[in-house]
Amino acid sequence: MKKKLVVLTGAGISAESGLKTFRDTDGLWEGFNVYDVATPEAWLKNPELVQDFYNQRRKQVLAAEPNDAHRGLVELEAHYDVQIITQNIDDLHERAGSSNVTHLHGVITRSQSDLNPELTYPVNGWEIKMGELCELGAQLRAHVVWFGEAVPMIEAAAGICRSADLFVLIGSSLAVYPAANLLNFVPRRSPRYIIDPKIPEMRDSSRIVRIEKTATEGLKELLQLLS
Ligand code: APR
Repeated sequence: MKKKLVVLTGAGISAESGLKTFRDTDGLWEGFNVYDVATPEAWLKNPELVQDFYNQRRKQVLAAEPNDAHRGLVELEAHYDVQIITQNIDDLHERAGSSNVTHLHGVITRSQSDLNPELTYPVNGWEIKMGELCELGAQLRAHVVWFGEAVPMIEAAAGICRSADLFVLIGSSLAVYPAANLLNFVPRRSPRYIIDPKIPEMRDSSRIVRIEKTATEGLKELLQLLS
């Protein structure tokens, strides 16, 4: 029986695929005010702006490729039951070949009904057009969780963390809740690793192995430590 390796990833793991993080210098939120493009209020006020923001992001995601960090996590599946929980809305983990990915904040390659968020569909191409409707006749929007919206997968994610034999945090500033809370569900006995060139502050950083490197360099070190 393989040990369960739980990996929580953030925008940092996709940085080396050319996708901007949110809070680094020149990050995505530097160019935009989240309240103009990533809240239900923004969608009510200016749906075209919000739709276009995510259409542009989707174009960038479709043009990006998984990097060696995404692939390193696939390699670890030979030795561990790897369960990925990602805050990212890109599909690079899936395209790298990871077999178990939970998206906390949705995934931009799918659309969702504006009436029932549980109704989701694959997006053909890079854009969702205004006037494109779901089977209920409601507008389609990006299948992503906006600030102020519920995070439907958080309980499943906490359950995965509770059963972690090992835990790795890669490329997240832990600035956003409830995702940042997940660390508290990892059993204290389970070894924890962090891969980030700027290790984020956290309450209880005892017994955490800190790998202060980029995701691709850090995965090389992690593969040596864990294989
Ligand atoms: N390799 C690894 N980590 C990196 C790299 C890299 N090449 N480049 C940057 N990082 C790290 C930064 O040091 C930072 O800790 O990635 C982290 C990025 O933090 P954020 O930009 O805050 O991204 P994230 O933590 O994923 O944001 C969480 O906030 O805006 C919301 O919904 C959005 O899912 C997102 C959530």
